[in-house]
Amino acid sequence: MTRIRVEVDGTAVTVEEGASLLAAARAAGVGLPALCHDDRLTPVGSCRACLVGADGRTVAACVTPAADGMRVETGGEELRGLRRDAVELIVSALPPRALTPGLPGGQELARVCGELGIGPGAARGAGGRGRDDSHPYVHLDRDLCIACGRCVRMCAEVQGTFAITMSGRGAETVVAPGTGGAWADSDCVACGGCVDTCPSGALTEPGQALAAGLLTAAGDTGTAGTGQAAGTGQ
Ligand code: FES
Repeated sequence: MTRIRVEVDGTAVTVEEGASLLAAARAAGVGLPALCHDDRLTPVGSCRACLVGADGRTVAACVTPAADGMRVETGGEELRGLRRDAVELIVSALPPRALTPGLPGGQELARVCGELGIGPGAARGAGGRGRDDSHPYVHLDRDLCIACGRCVRMCAEVQGTFAITMSGRGAETVVAPGTGGAWADSDCVACGGCVDTCPSGALTEPGQALAAGLLTAAGDTGTAGTGQAAGTGQ
């Protein structure tokens, strides 16, 4: 495999031809937020949290291949501000509890917000989209979904099950069973891949949700919509 040379913030690194700028940045020791990205999945470049400068253009690092001799900038207040704006927009649709310290499954989003200086006040969504606690191994809290699509790609590309999809439009987009009903009635094989890749705590194991007080031991008897079908924004 041919290796190419890239400069990241003045540091020269070599990466395999075809590698992304995100990989090049990591090779240079630069961590970038990457909310819609998982190395195991096809990159889609939808969240814009990983914006960098590359030869004078602003691009999403996860979907931009490195080119030999390319100069990449990740620092600077302007680029950092663009990344912060992108994540702030995502977070603004979430309810305040989305940034609660220690939220099960939500550590990646919380860490990214912390790194970008986004405080708890940025999460100001109304919530109310309900939960699906019908499945014994997967708990869905729709209000915490950031529509990154990682779970859907994990289910399709890694597990090959195609059990879930994104439903709804715009800010109402949320993961949902492809069959349209409750998670327990879907084609989910309980592999746990969706829970593993979720960065925001929308998908957790029921035990995690219980520990966080999101469910009761006897089942979710709250008003959050147990087993309610998703796609309320359609
Ligand atoms: Fe690059 Fe989301 S991680 S656009």
